[in-house]
Amino acid sequence: MEQKPAIDLVLLAVSSLYNNPNTTEKERASQWLGDLQKSVHAWTVADELLHHKRDLESCYFAAQTMRSKIQQSFHELPPEAHSSLRDSLLEHIAQINEQTNTIIVTQLCVALADLALQMPTWPRASLDLITKFSSTNMWPLLEILTVLPEELENRSVRLGENRRLDVLNDFKSCSTTILEFLKHCANTYTDNSQENVQVNIKILRCFTSWVSVGAFELSELGNNIVINRAFGILTYKPEGEKQTVGGALHSAATDCICTLLQCLEDNNNQQILETYLFNNVINLEVAYHMSVANEDQDKSINYCRVFTELAESFLEKIIMNSNNKSQHYAMKVLDLVLICVGHHDYEVAEITFNLWYVLSEDLYQKNNKEITEMFRPYVERLITALCRHCQMEPDHEGLLEDGDDFKDFRLKVSDLIKDVVFIVGSSSCFRQMFINLQTPGVTWESSEASLFVMQAVAKNIVPTENEVVPKVVEAILSLPETTHISVKYTSVLLLGELCEWIEKHANTLDPILNFLVCCLPQQGIGAAAAIALQNICATCNDHMPRHVPIMLQLLHQVDTFAITNNAVIGLLKGVASIIGCMNPPELTTALRELCSMQMNPICQLIEQDVVPVKGTKTDPVLWLDRLSSVLRHICCKNNQSDGPHPCKEVVLEIWPILSRTFDKYDSDLRIMERCCRSVRFMLRCVSQQVREILESLVGQIVRIYSHFKHSCFLYVGSILVDEYAADASCVQGLLDMLHAFIEPTFLVLQEENGLRMHPDTVDDFFRLCARFLQRAPVAFLQCPSLVHILQCALLASSLDHKEANMSVMKFFYDLINQAQTDRSKADYKQRKDLVHRVLEEYGQNLVNNLLHACVFYLHSYMLSEVADVFVQLLDFNRETTGKWLANGLDQLPVQSNGGIVTATPQQLKDIHASITRSDTSKSVTHALKELTRLYR
Ligand SMILES: *[C@@H]1O[C@H](CO)[C@@H](O)[C@H](O)[C@H]1NC(C)=O
Ligand SMILES: *[C@@H]1O[C@H](CO)[C@@H](O)[C@H](O)[C@H]1NC(C)=O
Ligand SMILES: *[C@@H]1O[C@H](CO)[C@@H](O)[C@H](O)[C@H]1NC(C)=O
Ligand SMILES: *[C@@H]1O[C@H](CO)[C@@H](O)[C@H](O)[C@H]1NC(C)=O
Ligand SMILES: *[C@@H]1O[C@H](CO)[C@@H](O)[C@H](O)[C@H]1NC(C)=O
Repeated sequence: MEQKPAIDLVLLAVSSLYNNPNTTEKERASQWLGDLQKSVHAWTVADELLHHKRDLESCYFAAQTMRSKIQQSFHELPPEAHSSLRDSLLEHIAQINEQTNTIIVTQLCVALADLALQMPTWPRASLDLITKFSSTNMWPLLEILTVLPEELENRSVRLGENRRLDVLNDFKSCSTTILEFLKHCANTYTDNSQENVQVNIKILRCFTSWVSVGAFELSELGNNIVINRAFGILTYKPEGEKQTVGGALHSAATDCICTLLQCLEDNNNQQILETYLFNNVINLEVAYHMSVANEDQDKSINYCRVFTELAESFLEKIIMNSNNKSQHYAMKVLDLVLICVGHHDYEVAEITFNLWYVLSEDLYQKNNKEITEMFRPYVERLITALCRHCQMEPDHEGLLEDGDDFKDFRLKVSDLIKDVVFIVGSSSCFRQMFINLQTPGVTWESSEASLFVMQAVAKNIVPTENEVVPKVVEAILSLPETTHISVKYTSVLLLGELCEWIEKHANTLDPILNFLVCCLPQQGIGAAAAIALQNICATCNDHMPRHVPIMLQLLHQVDTFAITNNAVIGLLKGVASIIGCMNPPELTTALRELCSMQMNPICQLIEQDVVPVKGTKTDPVLWLDRLSSVLRHICCKNNQSDGPHPCKEVVLEIWPILSRTFDKYDSDLRIMERCCRSVRFMLRCVSQQVREILESLVGQIVRIYSHFKHSCFLYVGSILVDEYAADASCVQGLLDMLHAFIEPTFLVLQEENGLRMHPDTVDDFFRLCARFLQRAPVAFLQCPSLVHILQCALLASSLDHKEANMSVMKFFYDLINQAQTDRSKADYKQRKDLVHRVLEEYGQNLVNNLLHACVFYLHSYMLSEVADVFVQLLDFNRETTGKWLANGLDQLPVQSNGGIVTATPQQLKDIHASITRSDTSKSVTHALKELTRLYR
């Protein structure tokens, strides 16, 4: 947008965006307004719109534009414009009254807060604001004071660590006044009018916000009226003075107490505040029971949050300061938490889960029997309560549906029990559940829940257990026909989880397999039977080969059973792993049968020219995925090193069909990706033994890639390089393949935004190059395309995409590594010279790009990949790398144009020193994190 648009035009566009029924027009307006927001004219346009106050929509658009410009494009403004922008915003805010729309108020307040954070020339802004607004504009004032600390923490404004610390100190220097101000507010708004309730919510939120960033000294908070008010709101009021507290106020008070408790956890030795909070929270038990009696679920949830937070903040002290003689006084908060776990609604129980995770992690780390023992009774009660929560409704018919909230909750319970069960012992838990099963008159839903818990812990049962498990297995095998389907389903899963026990009790294998095979065709149970069979196949495969014929027969009929494709794939995995244990000739026969079950349908689809319908049997992907799962999981245990690989014969039969699939569906990306995946596992399965198909395979993938540019073909290329490039007779052919890939690849990547739009291509291409570096380094480093590849890699090093980024970093890593690795090999000197030449030309460039990417683009989880490259560079030549690094750091900006110092010379010097001193990726990562913090 070159010119500032006339204000009437903007108003028209806003009106069109909100009111035009024609979607084409609406989208056009949205696009145009988006462009306007990106342009530098947005600043004045927003300001003018706010002055005009034409209508709600235009004011909303203006406020939102102002907020996002200050948040993201503050650098567009010259510093001398900052104070006039502030004055203008203050003027708009001064005009806020009861009628102003809440969203507009929020946007303007966030805008002003973001401005203050980025404006070092406006120190102690919060005090200014109090002076200016406290007698006239309480609402926006409390709102700004609330969002100021929130925005400080929010990384969408890139303040940098130095500025953040300055602002926090600025906040601290204002904290006494802020506390006084909040006290004054709290004393002013005491009665229960609707209006005062709203103000009290704001007071609590504001207080919480300042506590949350650590701007208040906890020692200043003794006998604070705001905290007292929060407890006053939460405390049970006896009849007579009863008053209902609204949900929003109750939640604000809850947030306040929870935030204080979190701060307490991070700051020890606040004895007075600690005792005060503890006593007041413990006193909330009555109020919790009243909320349950009144069926006020939201409030019960709030109390549960407070109790859980209290327990978390005291947990370390409880664990550190307890022994057999005396428990820490705060241990009793766990009773309160367990009362909440007993709430009839599982959503309340779920709030406590994190506490139990933290507890089990701490106890596991401590590894102290006595202390763990102390917590056993609590965890026993927890598991009993969870088992009850897992019960289905007595009148529930059928199974729980996927995606059902209750089913998801049960999965979370299962995970939690797996984590905490060591505190009570798996066998003890298993036995307890077995006792539940034998209770006379036990209901189906209670049995099912006990079986469900048993299933969660079954993998931990020692395989030598001979007391309970045999009885459980026997009971399951003789479940009567009339058993509820959910009980059967869970029992079948339990059998699968007992696979390790079954492996040690081979006599049980036949009856169990027979049972599961009978379950397989049964509606609903089939999926569980398939999972159980897969577990047992994978664990017991030494005992299984004699069952292969029956399994193959089952697989022939598998599509007549009511089980999902995923379950079929699971079964195929299981059977493939058993076949791997057979002797070579039998293995070949069985594998041929297993593969032909998948290949025959594909041949028919191709011959009859059937139009694929996704997810049905007319979809080649269905069969390709099944083939992949077979090839991936067949692992030949009894191969003979002299004879041909037992899978080779079958692979040579499969390949022509996969080749026809490539040709038939070459324009369909989805089918090509899955076909490439099958080829990948096919090549891996017979590693390096099918040289005879290389020529036709390479010819075909190069041909299809140059036409359609599906990046999965680059992936197949990298597998070929990995398997065959170490073989001198294959190198030239593979280099030709790389060469043929380059032109179409660069065509894709050189489109506008090509790197960003095609991260898969970046990923697959550089994986291919990295494989070459590992397998045929000299040939690769001498190939004429290397220069272009390096230039492309340098461009790609600043892509924010996890996989793409990793591949590029890995490529650089492998490249430099060639100058260090395998020093005893004959080609070492040659490799070293070649790498040396590359770095001489590109080293500085590489370092600059890496630093730039770290500071401005990369997510912090990517930094360790970059650090790996730095470590290689340092190993290659510490001194030269130090120079490159110094130059690179020199080019980073040290000040924002608003005068905020991003990095001081000393900070950059320290970072330079810690990187050049480093020997490990970990310490370089640490230094890079420090660097990026200065800019975010
Ligand atoms: C919507 O607007 C477009 C462009 O102005 C016009 O071509 C189209 O006919 C309109 N559609 C309707 C349903 O009015
Ligand atoms: C940070 O700010 C952005 C934009 O204003 C907002 O969408 C996001 O919710 C905020 N995040 C936090 C944690 O406050
Ligand atoms: C805890 O009690 C056990 C016996 O129950 C005893 O062996 C152990 O020494 C006691 N430990 C402490 C710290 O008192
Ligand atoms: C084949 O056998 C050799 C030695 O006999 C062994 O090193 C290799 O790992 C085996 N391969 C497979 C795929 O099991
Ligand atoms: C990695 O991510 C960064 C940050 O977005 C990006 O700038 C860089 O180009 C990526 N690198 C690669 C090789 O994709």
